[in-house]
Amino acid sequence: MQITMIGAGYVGLTTGTCLAAIGHGVCCYDIDAAKISRLRRFDPPIYEPGLEDAMRQAVAAGHLRFTSRLRESVSDADVVFIAVGTPAGPGGGIDLSHVLGAAKRIAPHLKRSALVVIKSTVVVGTARRVRETIARKRSAFDIRVASNPEFLREGSAMADFLGPDRIVIGADDTRSRNILRALYRPLARAGVPVVATTTGNAELIKYAANAFLALKIGFVNDVADLCERTGGDIADVARGIGLDRRIGDSFLAPGPGFGGSCFPKDTRAFAATGRQFGAPQKLVETLIARNDQRKVALARRILKEGRLSPGGRVAVLGLAFKANTDDVRESAALTVIPALQEAGLQVIAHDPKAEANARRHMKDVIWAESPYAACKGASAAIVLTEWDEYRQLNLSRLAGELSGDLLVDYRNLFDPQAVVQHGLRYISLGRSAAP
Ligand code: UGA
Repeated sequence: MQITMIGAGYVGLTTGTCLAAIGHGVCCYDIDAAKISRLRRFDPPIYEPGLEDAMRQAVAAGHLRFTSRLRESVSDADVVFIAVGTPAGPGGGIDLSHVLGAAKRIAPHLKRSALVVIKSTVVVGTARRVRETIARKRSAFDIRVASNPEFLREGSAMADFLGPDRIVIGADDTRSRNILRALYRPLARAGVPVVATTTGNAELIKYAANAFLALKIGFVNDVADLCERTGGDIADVARGIGLDRRIGDSFLAPGPGFGGSCFPKDTRAFAATGRQFGAPQKLVETLIARNDQRKVALARRILKEGRLSPGGRVAVLGLAFKANTDDVRESAALTVIPALQEAGLQVIAHDPKAEANARRHMKDVIWAESPYAACKGASAAIVLTEWDEYRQLNLSRLAGELSGDLLVDYRNLFDPQAVVQHGLRYISLGRSAAP
């Protein structure tokens, strides 16, 4: 099947590369010619483990190419995916102008039998709007629009695509459904369940899934707070509840509040949809507020419990919103660092991958080349991202570099006893410092 991906951003590029890897012919289109030149040189503008190799292999096999020429990319395609951005819009909703704009621009070039598939994360009813947008340009034939949400995590997108828990195909007619089934047959044959449903349900599934996962994180964060007050240990409590298969043991790690380009925006959009349709999503509304408060509260906690004096220097380790990505959008660091600076502290920061992106968002930060260099002469080390590199830090070297004695670990990477044995004061989440 010949596929065109409109938008070679994070979702379009990873999905396009993976579709090529399972044997389809894929053309990735992007309006940004500079991005296309980089992609042709196998220099993706995002950091995603395994992506570059997969791109090289797919191109070498003749299954993947990149272009900034719209007509040429769309006119031969059997399936045209729309994978453009959906920025936050007014009132917590999303801005659909890129999606609808893409629909308008591809419409004149689509071949009669083409299926348009929305891959971008969109609110319920968008497939219908895309269909109407295209129909205004191509009233002579019956355009089919389907919905096929992605469930890729940054940092493990390739593995998530090739070994997903399920594939959701939303189509309102049999032919479109069959095309999508055929597209994913290599994965379905390997045993991946396929949920075939309507476009509206597929759109709801995407948001409901992200909202539910975010609720899990919000819940475990609240339980971690309770563990701290009661002398408990969140690791044991999370394991104890997670082994119940109805709950499940993943997404139960406490942290400094979820971030990234998906959960914060998607939960807000889901709540806005609930309000719009008179079915308020109160749990999700509360979650959004709690998550924002948590980032602020954890910044304050460092200042209050850390007893840090203004004018001092603190090391922040981890700027990305989670490990294995260079993405800093809505990361805890974006709240914590300004709060430390406002309290008169000098911040020296390190991240293995996200420094370049962080530089665009953060002012007056000194950038360090290694976590140890960041800690040199600092009164505290504050871990915000769960990079393996930090998990493997040599605590005695870290303690030696610090001028003070505080280790704040908002990802619970270390054994509290080991930290205390190195003469450090330890603040972590949901457990007591020295059991
Ligand atoms: C999320 C979903 O997990 C994907 O399934 C979905 O496809 C994607 O959004 C999307 O909508 O495109 P992602 O944003 O890449 O993926 O990151 P996650 O791994 O889900 O982490 C989100 C946030 O939750 C991070 O800040 C992470 O640190 C935090 N988190 C995650 C926790 O605090 N605790 C956990 O146990 C898990």
